[in-house]
Amino acid sequence: MDVLLKTNIGKLEFELPIFNASGVWCTTEKELIELGKSQAGAIIFKTMTVKPREGNPEPRFYTDKKISINSMGLPNLGVDYYSKIVSNLIKFKKPLFASIAGFSEEEYDYLFDKVNNKPFDAVEINLSCPNLIGKCIFAYDIKTSLRILKKIKSKTKKIIGVKLPPYNDRSQIQMIAEGLVDIGIDFATLINSFPLGCVINYKKEMMMIKPNMGIGGLGGEAIKPISLAQIILFRYYSKGKLDLIGVGGINKGSDIYEYILAGASAVGIATTLQNEGIGVFSRLKNELIKILKKKKIKILKEKIGALKLI
Ligand code: DHB
Repeated sequence: MDVLLKTNIGKLEFELPIFNASGVWCTTEKELIELGKSQAGAIIFKTMTVKPREGNPEPRFYTDKKISINSMGLPNLGVDYYSKIVSNLIKFKKPLFASIAGFSEEEYDYLFDKVNNKPFDAVEINLSCPNLIGKCIFAYDIKTSLRILKKIKSKTKKIIGVKLPPYNDRSQIQMIAEGLVDIGIDFATLINSFPLGCVINYKKEMMMIKPNMGIGGLGGEAIKPISLAQIILFRYYSKGKLDLIGVGGINKGSDIYEYILAGASAVGIATTLQNEGIGVFSRLKNELIKILKKKKIKILKEKIGALKLI
């Protein structure tokens, strides 16, 4: 039995809706080319800023294979670098996603103008970086976030999405989901890491990472239940008009299938990609196909949002 894994985000088609989440394996041209050669269904770039950044002091990443804590501080080679090398990735024939983060509304505008006329197929506006010392997460200011997105969307025909942090209240999700639909945003990537997490080494009586008092974004299996609930509620409040990319704690084929049932059209892999390397995409693809065959499902897309409530 052949299984069709093809899905889409807006008019953008994915042969395989499994790829990297921004931030992992996507900072240098070498890493991006490795993604191109891998089974990943798309290539998402590291979040780029106006100028190159070194990021926060080390150690700034910790993983115990199940969870991760990161406080990278947006180390990246700058928007001009990524705008220059993006043309070298076209040959892989995979959707190319820019990811941008400004430190002000004006910077978002400036960054978007830079990537808008480059061969990126989509732009993910990152409003949820948790690790900028002394800065708030834009996405918790819903009004400002919608203003930034509206301005960007009005300038382009590109596929535009937003990367969001977890919200704690249904009313916040309703407000942002309805706002995104009103503006015509094509997709939301849910979720960025949970902003405040830490791991303590009790033997050394110390934190595992250095920046921001050792507290950084929590990823991995601990955040899957949080992310799934965000997917379900964003789908509900957007009335299915917003395509969703699920990120958070995906480690096996059944995790992907759960995200599809919840309403995701595609998934991004972060902690598991960091731990396992780019072979992860073919493993996950094979595991997903196995599940679909067992369930006698021929077309993955038909199961998006097919979750039954009790
Ligand atoms: C970083 C972390 C994030 O979760 C993000 O969205 C962007 C950047 C970082 O610390 O580099």
